[in-house]
Amino acid sequence: MADSPPIAFPAHGTAPDELLAELGTSRADDLGWREGRAFSLVYNSGDHEHERLLEAVARSYQHDNALNPFAYPSLLRIELELVAMAADLFGAPADAGAITSGGTESIFVAVQTARDQARAERGIAEPRLVTPITAHPAFAKAAHYLDVEHVLVPVGADGRVDLDALAEAVDDRTGLVVASAPNYPYGVIDEVTAVAALAAERGVLCHVDACLGGWLLPWWERLGEPVPPWDLRVPGVTSLSADIHKYGYTFKGASVILYRDRALLKYQHFWYDTWPGGLYASGTTAGTRPAPPIAGAWYAVRHLGADGYLRLAGQVRDATRRFRAGIEAQPRLRITHPPDLSLFEFTADDGSIGAIGDGMAARGWHLDRQQGGLHLMLSPYHLRVSDEFLADLAAAVEEAPAGPRGDEPTPTYGGIA
Ligand SMILES: Cc1ncc(COP(=O)(O)O)c(C=O)c1O
Repeated sequence: MADSPPIAFPAHGTAPDELLAELGTSRADDLGWREGRAFSLVYNSGDHEHERLLEAVARSYQHDNALNPFAYPSLLRIELELVAMAADLFGAPADAGAITSGGTESIFVAVQTARDQARAERGIAEPRLVTPITAHPAFAKAAHYLDVEHVLVPVGADGRVDLDALAEAVDDRTGLVVASAPNYPYGVIDEVTAVAALAAERGVLCHVDACLGGWLLPWWERLGEPVPPWDLRVPGVTSLSADIHKYGYTFKGASVILYRDRALLKYQHFWYDTWPGGLYASGTTAGTRPAPPIAGAWYAVRHLGADGYLRLAGQVRDATRRFRAGIEAQPRLRITHPPDLSLFEFTADDGSIGAIGDGMAARGWHLDRQQGGLHLMLSPYHLRVSDEFLADLAAAVEEAPAGPRGDEPTPTYGGIA
């Protein structure tokens, strides 16, 4: 970038055909998720009919703004029904949730709601947020933005929050306790029943972050996989986030936040009536809200239905089994924490995981690098590339010299342009 000429504001417009031709070529180096070579960022259902439907829905709602849903009766109905359908799936009341733009926004409003509830109902001026160290960075970000103190609790050898340490960390200033279902780094589910019981006993709210697993766990359980209780049916759980743009298989920009009752949701609502422009009311943090992600999520759920989600979950489960078995068969590799779902971290105890990651990158596989190893998260499409992946992994392991390379790149998740 250092030698590129400075970018100036375009003096003249450009014809659409010319720009579309440019669009075609400019994307050559972008993430090739359609070929199954990416393991996060995009959840590839491998279902082209599903993609075609969502693209048509997005086009139809392209220019619409869900800031005022009363201007669009179809959107209002879709949003209310989407919340009700999610509530039905996760054991929540139908009228105590909202659609947000993603996991980070759902988590943000859950922390804000808990902060304001603790202030209003428990008289705590500066409530604290308590999370395991494995909780998603969105909690740290929410705490930072909302000026809430964030207390971190260690996890045990299995990657689940240490319950004794949690019991010590929760005090009379705690406003919210968090459990993940599952956490991103290791794919393990915290002991939600115990965490929520502790929170309830101390009169504290408890949020389950099911952003990642929420739209997969109900079907995982129906497939006969062991799934401990994790949703709003667990006594003491007071809110839950679940991203439809992950295993709900819609395009980006859709998550659901649900509460145990509508009284809690009210803390999330913002009303402002002293503006010359009129009464301003909003249910989430955004003002203008793009309509396509909300509509896309509703059509995704309607297209797949329980039988479609179950079918895709079966493919994710089979892909997970194949990838796990292939990795476990490599004597130099080890899965660091036995996962509860379709994602996990693996490493090489001889320190060569960085070189193995390089070997996979050279073969076109985009594996995320974590502090403790490489990260894999499986989508339905990965079932079709498992043999190719495992053959490449065997070759990358074979050619990687034992021991750390010494100049491993810093593990990164997200970025700033
Ligand atoms: C467990 C968990 N929570 C929250 C998030 C944040 O979601 P988003 O990136 O949609 O803001 C993620 C994202 O991967 C996640 O894995």
